[in-house]
Amino acid sequence: MKEEIEKFLGFQKPANFPEPVYNLANNPVTKEGFELGRALFYEPRLSRNNTITCGSCHIQSSAFTQHGHDVSHGIDDRLGTRNSPPIMNLAWNKAFMWGGGVFDLDLQPITPITTHEEMDENLENVLNKIRALPKYTAMFNGAFGTEEVTTARFMKALSQFMVMCVSSNSKYDKVMRKEAGATFTADEQAGYVLFKDKCASCHSEPLFTDGSFRNNGLGISTINDKGLYGATLI
Ligand code: HEC
Ligand code: HEC
Repeated sequence: MKEEIEKFLGFQKPANFPEPVYNLANNPVTKEGFELGRALFYEPRLSRNNTITCGSCHIQSSAFTQHGHDVSHGIDDRLGTRNSPPIMNLAWNKAFMWGGGVFDLDLQPITPITTHEEMDENLENVLNKIRALPKYTAMFNGAFGTEEVTTARFMKALSQFMVMCVSSNSKYDKVMRKEAGATFTADEQAGYVLFKDKCASCHSEPLFTDGSFRNNGLGISTINDKGLYGATLI
């Protein structure tokens, strides 16, 4: 087990997953880059008053969501209008956020950093706070070869951490890969058949989404979230 943790393999496409959408050749995942990204993900200096981290709303033990809240709580306990989606299988996402609108994972962090109810900061301040810490200049050096803290490196490190959150070790995945000893119980098999019949037209396997935006029949909430319309206006 210890050896397994120490042996860093970088990004691996699970055998039962399709080719990723994210351009990994442009940002190959290294141990140093991943560790820098993880440190930044849990760095409160990304927020105006140094209290909120990405992990405040994306909590690892709840698949990187903010379980137990209707909507995410940000800086000064301000409320947003949506809850945080999981940080999971993002290398296969074509569009980000519940309603789309962000198309490149390397640009996504600008939104939470600058949003009034989330981190309420600006990128230049964040980079200056990071530059002032020897811990980070050393980590940028390890990940990118020099100590320079740039927007592109900052974003790429966060992406390296996020694309490594891959959900391919579930029982479902093991059964699909026909791994030794992995079988569904009779109830699980019946559920799987039902799922394929009733749900898989939208939640297509193996990622359980076809990446499109659909009307799922839920009533309009008090927030009157317009979803995809907010991003496209059509
Ligand atoms: C205050 C809570 C909060 C903080 C802090 C926060 N997020 Fe989020 N995150 C959200 C919410 C809410 C959404 C959904 C936004 C939407 O649909 O408009 C989201 C969406 C995302 C998505 C899109 C995922 C998908 O499946 O489309 C990514 C990636 C993400 N956040 C990464 C980050 C990173 C990186 C940081 C830190 C720089 C961060 N978040 C900080 C609440 C937060
Ligand atoms: C017409 C398309 C469609 C069908 C059919 C459908 N869903 Fe969904 N489902 C969606 C959309 C759209 C969402 C919200 C966005 C998302 O989670 O990607 C969603 C969300 C969900 C979620 C919440 C996911 C999360 O991350 O919070 C679950 C669980 C779910 N569906 C289960 C099911 C099950 C079980 C069935 C079959 C009984 C089903 N869905 C059938 C479109 C569909």
